[in-house]
Amino acid sequence: MSRPRIVVTRRIPQPALDLLAEAGEVWLSPHDRPLTREELFDAVKGAEAIVCLLHDKIDDEVLDAAGPQLKVIANVAVGYDNVDTKAIAARESIWFTNTPGVLTEATADIAFSLILMATRRLGEGERVIRSQTPWVWNMFYMLGTGLQGKKLGIVGLGLIGQATARRAKAFGMEVIYSGRRQADAAIEQELGATYVSFDELLETAAVVSLHCPLNAETRHLMDAERFKQMRDDAYLINTTRGPVVDEAALVEALRNGEIKGAGLDVFEEEPKVNEGLLTLENVVLIPHLGSATIETRTGMGVLAATNAIAILRGEQPPTPVVSVG
Ligand code: GLV
Repeated sequence: MSRPRIVVTRRIPQPALDLLAEAGEVWLSPHDRPLTREELFDAVKGAEAIVCLLHDKIDDEVLDAAGPQLKVIANVAVGYDNVDTKAIAARESIWFTNTPGVLTEATADIAFSLILMATRRLGEGERVIRSQTPWVWNMFYMLGTGLQGKKLGIVGLGLIGQATARRAKAFGMEVIYSGRRQADAAIEQELGATYVSFDELLETAAVVSLHCPLNAETRHLMDAERFKQMRDDAYLINTTRGPVVDEAALVEALRNGEIKGAGLDVFEEEPKVNEGLLTLENVVLIPHLGSATIETRTGMGVLAATNAIAILRGEQPPTPVVSVG
């Protein structure tokens, strides 16, 4: 029997490639960049499994280019706004999997890092030192905002939201959260978290941290009106997907003092960053590092490979989003 063709759209950690190589003929993109659409169409031809990354747009055109033998698309990411899951489900023969769980702690670490960086003005402080700007310690120099006793508003209490809340609790913060569903009582109790409306969260939280997935309902969830609802001494943190925030509206809110600061790991049109943000001192900007640890990226690659291999072998994959049969 011929070995299945497995297409990997960009290099992933070696342990994941090794697993895939045991299961089939791996085609790995030779480029250290996302494939163009044409390259992607060519690459996926005849594939039974496609292991893709968050910058690959997977839609009907890609499914058509692959052909009817395609069994699985394994996204090496937990977020899957890059994938048209409806188009996959409509085929009734293709599984789709993502990588939840393995990146929870790393991403929560980055969310909390951004909270500390924004509230304690760490980026600004670093820029003073690096630019050799003259500075002298004094009682009022570069004062930030303390976190103890303040409210953290988590938008979307999924795994990453919960892990961020756990860190907030250790820092003496009070956790409130909003989302489509109220969490289990046991989770609320562990985190000391209170379910509130999105309006109440925006109006009362000292720090608002976004942990909802990007979809049609959450695109530009944070727009000009929402920034006006926030306290003027509050901070916005985004570690989910850039388009959840209207970046132009955020620039205005930061510029006009409608909110005090922000910390962003993700951007509306990565890798581009709104130029207005670049000129502001009260925003911390880092380049999509949420899951960027060796351990986590390895875990993500291995989980995606495990999902793909299970489906090629007719077994149940660990983390399916779209199932067949
Ligand atoms: C990273 O951004 C992911 O969704 O896994």
